[in-house]
Amino acid sequence: MTQTKNEKMELLEQRVSSCRGCSLCTTRTQSVFGKGSFSPTVLFVGEAPGEQEDREGKPFVGPAGKLLDLYIEFIGLEEDDYYVANILKCRPPRNRDPLPEEEEACLPYLREQLRLLQPKILVCLGRIAAKRIISPDFRITKQRGIWYDLGGLRVMATYHPSALLRDPAKKEEALTDFKKIAEEIKKFK
Ligand code: URA
Repeated sequence: MTQTKNEKMELLEQRVSSCRGCSLCTTRTQSVFGKGSFSPTVLFVGEAPGEQEDREGKPFVGPAGKLLDLYIEFIGLEEDDYYVANILKCRPPRNRDPLPEEEEACLPYLREQLRLLQPKILVCLGRIAAKRIISPDFRITKQRGIWYDLGGLRVMATYHPSALLRDPAKKEEALTDFKKIAEEIKKFK
């Protein structure tokens, strides 16, 4: 019998939870697969789970997540409209940057999520996601807020919410980016 999208997503989540593709499986509490609608217009992609995400098994539930929720609410997105995932599904110790080999090992899971969810818009949260998804030499301060077309998918990067918590002066620019995202979403409604 053919599997539904929900079943495929559940199976993929199970595969991620037992993944031993890199050494982060030895330090994680649990993997963090993603959350949100299985028919999203927008896919937000962050970097990697932090301490709270590792404990709860859901992405963006800590302080950065609370801020992301505010921006999402600001542009009027509803639960049905979006999905949130990360480049890495397991927390790097002390929240250090992901290593290239960890990203390589984990990216097939994100690609599969993308293939199943088929969003219209992908928003990279921060430079780690932007470098992996848009271009290895991506400069977040120069290239954020610009739309890219990746095989029909509309892609933009904005600041990672943790960067906004560290440097609130960037919040104005992030708001500008989210307004652009809201405009783009209208085209698909
Ligand atoms: N930062 C991320 O990039 N992802 C999370 O899930 C939480 C914090």
